[in-house]
Amino acid sequence: MTSGDYDFLSNFLQQSSGLALGAGKDYLLEARLVPLAQSWGLPDFDQLIKELRKGKDARLSAAVTEAMTTNETSFFRDKSPFEDLKNFILPALMEARGTSKKLRIWCAAASTGQEPYSVLMLLDEAFPQLSGWSIDFIATDISQAMLDRAREGEYSQFEIQRGLPIQSLVKNFTQTPRGWQVKEGLRKRVDYRKLNLLDEFGQLGQFDLIMCRNVLIYFDGPTKTDILNRMHRIVRKDGYLMLGAAETVLGLTDNFVRFKGSVSATYAPAGK
Ligand SMILES: C[S@@+](CC[C@H](N)C(=O)[O-])C[C@H]1O[C@@H](n2cnc3c(N)ncnc32)[C@H](O)[C@@H]1O
Repeated sequence: MTSGDYDFLSNFLQQSSGLALGAGKDYLLEARLVPLAQSWGLPDFDQLIKELRKGKDARLSAAVTEAMTTNETSFFRDKSPFEDLKNFILPALMEARGTSKKLRIWCAAASTGQEPYSVLMLLDEAFPQLSGWSIDFIATDISQAMLDRAREGEYSQFEIQRGLPIQSLVKNFTQTPRGWQVKEGLRKRVDYRKLNLLDEFGQLGQFDLIMCRNVLIYFDGPTKTDILNRMHRIVRKDGYLMLGAAETVLGLTDNFVRFKGSVSATYAPAGK
């Protein structure tokens, strides 16, 4: 790959998804895009870049963007966010919304769905009193392929073994020839939508809880700041923002403060 091609791809990805590729990632580009070129019937990587440079095929641009996303996820990932949800976030929200009995939750980079399903399984198990509540659960991702998988809710034995307790498996899944599928009742409770975090998301409305975990790490500082500040506008004043274990708001925005006593990267909105 020429340095011109590298710069072109770097800029393209920065603009299409916010991905800050940095230097020396030739191997990553080739590992992800050579198979994509093949699946598009293009003779090689160079031809893929030529087609992309023409900028005429929106489907190809989306496919390249998606191929460069990292979709790593698992059920109850990192455990500690789910302890915080159980120990203080949900009890506090249930008390604050005891009259309206309405909760709005947004999972902002849902990948293949393990995160939203984990939250709903936790709600059902730990807070049966929520059964009469209206819970509006929106889960978004930039990748259509990941959203399709999330909606399908079907996981391999390997994916199931990564973090799903056996009682949750028995209660919420049915066995299929390829693995296990989330029961329809649970799947239907998640409203999956395609959304690029670089785009406007104020139209989603106000939320009691925003989970934006393990996606900001791929972006540069100004992009993270912009997304966090826009999230601040739509999180309720007594709501919460949860980031991934390796993520922080420090040095990016003063609009969120670390929630004292939390064992995960849980933040509360400041100055609302
Ligand atoms: C590493 S996964 C995180 C999944 C889950 N939140 C977790 O922590 O396990 C990151 C997800 O962010 C999505 N993503 C990347 N860039 C995005 C963007 N600009 N807008 C929305 N989603 C994006 C990817 O498609 C991927 O599914």
